[in-house]
Amino acid sequence: MVKKRILVTGGGLGHIGSKLIREYAKRKDVELIRILDNLSTQRYPSLFDLLCGEDIPRYEFIEGDVRDREDCERACDGIDVVLHLAALTDAPRTVEKARETFDINLAGTLKMVASAINSGVKKFLLASTTSVYGGTEGVVNETSELNMEEVNKVPYTATRVLAEQSLLYAAKAKLIDGEILRMGTIFGYSPGMRFHTAVNRFTWQAITNQPLTIWADAIDQQRPYLALDDAIRAWRFLEKRGESGEVYNVVTGNYTVRQVVETIQKHLYLRTQDVSNPSPSQIINQRSYSASAEKIKNLGFEFKGNLEKSIAETIRHFDGIIPEGIKKYK
Ligand SMILES: NC(=O)c1ccc[n+]([C@@H]2O[C@H](COP(=O)([O-])OP(=O)(O)OC[C@H]3O[C@@H](n4cnc5c(N)ncnc54)[C@H](O)[C@@H]3O)[C@@H](O)[C@H]2O)c1
Repeated sequence: MVKKRILVTGGGLGHIGSKLIREYAKRKDVELIRILDNLSTQRYPSLFDLLCGEDIPRYEFIEGDVRDREDCERACDGIDVVLHLAALTDAPRTVEKARETFDINLAGTLKMVASAINSGVKKFLLASTTSVYGGTEGVVNETSELNMEEVNKVPYTATRVLAEQSLLYAAKAKLIDGEILRMGTIFGYSPGMRFHTAVNRFTWQAITNQPLTIWADAIDQQRPYLALDDAIRAWRFLEKRGESGEVYNVVTGNYTVRQVVETIQKHLYLRTQDVSNPSPSQIINQRSYSASAEKIKNLGFEFKGNLEKSIAETIRHFDGIIPEGIKKYK
């Protein structure tokens, strides 16, 4: 069997990548997992205790930046598949960082795509987000028209859309085989977990007995979410089954904030909720919407994630710091 050489950008340290590189180490059809990350998040522990030995893929770590064309070229050299995850990801904060977001999320993606084409990479999978549908209402799928006025208000979503278009252009021009994963907001434990996003933030606030910062207008709005394990399985599935030039929504379920909070409440007593309204720059998706994942399901992908199990697992990892009085479990 010819084994693959895989590059994961933003892979070693990120919320998704830090678990993905561990799961991919179990693959028999992979010989190399190369990681490109600029360590901007300082999550060095994400690289602790990676498996090594005979008959398992070898790791290589490149401390480098997707803004640097030479780093991109070096990272793509000899690679079969690129999983491009490196990005500035704290969407509300990108409002004050338009230049940096442009340089990393858009220009950095272009440099990665160009380097992958130069190096003869066979497949380029790009991480995108269902937040690109944020200005749309109701049920959306990959053919739904995006509300570009809303998309362009936030550098994170604006640059995601432009990065998608760049890869789709390269794929349609047959320069490279490229696919887009529009992922829902991730929940679920990983070694490089971050807590800016909804489920994880509320879980952390509950664990530390802080009032949950819930926006009154958003409590019954629906949003797409994605279990981390489903995300990793979907990347692998689309590496094999995805069609070049296509966009895929990757969504375990569409939940309201109320559903998320009620799920946390099954495991912990919550302090009075602090219901307030955000400033316009704090909330990026103003409308209620849910994203359909029928397209990837029709290819044969099955979502197995479970919101309650993932929240319970995250809570258990913090067991040592949870005050006894707020635990509903033994
Ligand atoms: N986590 C989510 O809820 C979610 C949802 C949808 C889409 N996504 C997308 O998936 C990807 C990964 O998300 P995540 O949550 O794992 O992100 P993360 O913020 O946890 O990790 C991003 C990684 O990229 C690295 N990075 C940042 N700038 C870089 C640069 N200039 N050069 C090299 N490395 C750089 C960081 O050091 C970090 O390790 C992102 O593209 C994100 O937009 C994430």
